Amino acid sequence: MVKMAVLVSGSGSNLQAIIEAVEAGRIDGEIALVVSNRPDAYGLVRAEKHGIATRVVEPGKFSERREFDRELARVLAEAGVELVVLAGFMRVLGSEFLSRFPDRVINIHPALLPAFPGTHGQGDAFDYGVKLAGCTVHFVDEKVDHGPIIIQAAVPVLDHDDRDALAARILRCEHRIFPRALALYCAGRLEIVGRKVRISGIDENALSEQFLISCPEIS
Ligand code: GRF
Repeated sequence: MVKMAVLVSGSGSNLQAIIEAVEAGRIDGEIALVVSNRPDAYGLVRAEKHGIATRVVEPGKFSERREFDRELARVLAEAGVELVVLAGFMRVLGSEFLSRFPDRVINIHPALLPAFPGTHGQGDAFDYGVKLAGCTVHFVDEKVDHGPIIIQAAVPVLDHDDRDALAARILRCEHRIFPRALALYCAGRLEIVGRKVRISGIDENALSEQFLISCPEIS
């Protein structure tokens, strides 16, 4: 069973989806710890409601980013964490941190990477006028929103959408693909080959294990 830490900065709705998947036995892992960089993150409350240990590591208490990263890595190592899950964690982790957890940091981004990296992926895609928005679960490397892609979901932009409506629909897809990606990782089914993530044991008739096309409103 893989020991995971989930890192959050805000609401933690992705954390909630992961907790539910673990509790339902869909992920062969345990959430050893939830960590936030913000003491007021609602994700911490969600964790506590499920009896999961929490820690707050505040960047303001460290003079340098590297010191914050070191403390975070120390807290995770102390809890025996094997997989670091970034679920709306609004901090970039440096190379020293990543070298402590090689190929063992996974992130969710609310856009179809490599399009629209950065903090406002959904809004940027909406403003650009894309017809297909979406979200991406990927391994984290040293460039922001860049590492090898595990699963993506495509979410159509509808005529009556605004930024918030689209973001909410993308978020619902995040809740579906993030636990699925973690389940594949914990089952040992993911292999990184260069830029590509190979999923072993895939049923060719069930290609949907690696992508999701969500059009409930128009199907
Ligand atoms: C999600 O849209 C995630 O993709 C982004 O931040 C948001 C976090 O939402 N990085 P939540 O805290 O999981 O509700």
